[in-house]
Amino acid sequence: MRIDILTLFPNIVEGFLHESIIKRAIEKGLVEVNIVDFRKYSTLNNHQVDDTPYGGGGGMVLRCEPLVAAIEDLKDEDAKVFLMCPQGIPYKESHAIELSKLKHIILVCGHYEGFDERIRSFVDGEISIGDYVLTGGEIPAMAVCDSIIRLLPGVIKENSYENDSFMNNLLDYPTYTKPQEFRGLKVPDVLISGDHAKINAWREKERLLNTEKRRKDLLGGNHDGV
Ligand SMILES: C[S@@+](CC[C@H](N)C(=O)[O-])C[C@H]1O[C@@H](n2cnc3c(N)ncnc32)[C@H](O)[C@@H]1O
Repeated sequence: MRIDILTLFPNIVEGFLHESIIKRAIEKGLVEVNIVDFRKYSTLNNHQVDDTPYGGGGGMVLRCEPLVAAIEDLKDEDAKVFLMCPQGIPYKESHAIELSKLKHIILVCGHYEGFDERIRSFVDGEISIGDYVLTGGEIPAMAVCDSIIRLLPGVIKENSYENDSFMNNLLDYPTYTKPQEFRGLKVPDVLISGDHAKINAWREKERLLNTEKRRKDLLGGNHDGV
């Protein structure tokens, strides 16, 4: 899979590619991530990429031309282009699963006041990572990348994410490690019983209970496409 991240601030994203699971996935060739500074596609003086809003008001708006030039340069027949945008569909694990099956995605990070509205005619979708506003699309792009890359075959063991929260609209079951007792709090007996059928049944039951207790809304199983 190939992921291109269009940003004016490559340094924000750079470090994320050089640590832990994401770093190993790139080194193993399971994913290629390119950070592209779209300022270089500006043909204006000083590589200007933004301008004041028509109609007045505060903040600078990202112009269409450099972004569209970058998208058209990077896009191939497999590519899907997504704006990082608080007005987009709220991102969920089900979207990560869908996107992880694509061959090439281009994530476009906004900044300042956001994008010229007309950019919407040049993209396939818009992704929001939640109902709050960040200064730029870099953190959302990293969140989306991370959620996709960990699902790619060979990146982490399949059994370490198949019961993760949001898989099958359930939260994860409770997990414990050593010591068996910590400040009077004990590991449930079933987990040290060695009886794997019982352990699996307990985990299934706990996933349901956990979801009912914390996120009853998930049991409805809604899904919106990006
Ligand atoms: C300050 S925001 C612009 C917000 C825009 N004026 C609005 O109210 O919808 C600048 C950029 O940060 C990114 N961004 C901010 N919050 C986001 C979120 N919750 N999800 C995805 N991207 C976000 C987008 O790329 C956006 O263009």
